[in-house]
Amino acid sequence: MQLLDGKLLSENIKAELAAEVDQLIKDGKKVPHLVAVLVGDNPASEVYVSNKIRSCEQIGFRSTLIRRNADVAQGDLLKIVHDLNNDPEVDGFIVQLPLPKHINEEKITLAIDPKKDVDGFHPVNFGRMAQGLPAFLPATPYGILEILRRHNIETAGKHCVVVGRSNIVGTPISILLSRKGYPGDCTVTLTHSRTQDLPAEVRRADIVVAAIGIPNFIKGDWVKEGAVVIDVGINRIADSSKKSGFKLVGDVDFDAVAPKCSFITPVPGGVGAMTVTALLMNTMKATQKEIYS
Ligand code: GUN
Repeated sequence: MQLLDGKLLSENIKAELAAEVDQLIKDGKKVPHLVAVLVGDNPASEVYVSNKIRSCEQIGFRSTLIRRNADVAQGDLLKIVHDLNNDPEVDGFIVQLPLPKHINEEKITLAIDPKKDVDGFHPVNFGRMAQGLPAFLPATPYGILEILRRHNIETAGKHCVVVGRSNIVGTPISILLSRKGYPGDCTVTLTHSRTQDLPAEVRRADIVVAAIGIPNFIKGDWVKEGAVVIDVGINRIADSSKKSGFKLVGDVDFDAVAPKCSFITPVPGGVGAMTVTALLMNTMKATQKEIYS
C-alpha cells in the first residue's frame, strides 16, 4: 500500500508555480492576481480564505481580500462581482460560500465572468468541462486528477465507483474520469444515497472516490484487493485525547481499508491538501489565458 501524499504534492506544485512567477517577473510580465470575497464571519470560511491568501503570498501571487459584513445587500455584492469582472488588474476571483441566507448564491455565481471563475462553479465552466473543452475545473476534482496524474496511476479501462453526487465533487469527478484521455477513460459508476447495495457496487471498483461526507463510511470489506482509494471526506469527530476535542477523519474507514489498497489518500494530508493548490493552478491559467484567449 502506498500513501498518496497530497501535502507533499501540493508543496511541489506550489514550488513550480513560484518558479513560474519568478519567470514572469524576469520577463517583465505581471504576476497572477487572485481576489477573494468574504462575507460575514463564518469561522470555517475565515480559515479557508486565509489559507488561500497565505498560499498566494507563499508563491508570489498578488492577492486581495474584500470583506463585507453579513448584512451586505445582494445588490452591493453583485456590484463587487461586476467591478471584479471588469477590472483588468484582476485575473481570477472567488466569492467564498456559503453566503448569508438573504443572498441568492446562484445569482452571485451566475454573475461571475466565466473567464475569471477560478472556482469553476459557473455553469459555463461546468458545461465546457462536461464537453471536454478547456475549462476551469472545480478545485477538489482538479486536485484528484493531479494526484492520479502525478503518481502515474493507470486509469484507462478501470472501473471507478464514485460515492456521492454533489455539484462540486461527485458529479464533476465522475464526468472527468469518464472523459477521453489521461487521467480518464474510466468506466464510471456514480452512486448516491438511493443506490441499492452500495457495498456491492464499491466492491467492483478498481478506483473508489468517496465523497459522501459521512465519517468512516466505506468499510474494509467493501473494497477490492489492490484498489486505489481517494478519500474526499473531511469530517470532525470527537476525540478527548486531542487538545481541540476533535480529530479529522475521512469518508473511508482508513485502518480497515488501507491494508487492502494499492494506493490510498490519507485524511488529513490527502485530497484536502490539494484544493487550495488547485485554485492557484487555475489562477495561473487565468493569468496565462490558457483556458479562454
Ligand atoms: N466553500 C467551501 N469550499 C469552497 C470553494 O472551493 N470555493 C468557494 N468559493 N467557497 C467554498
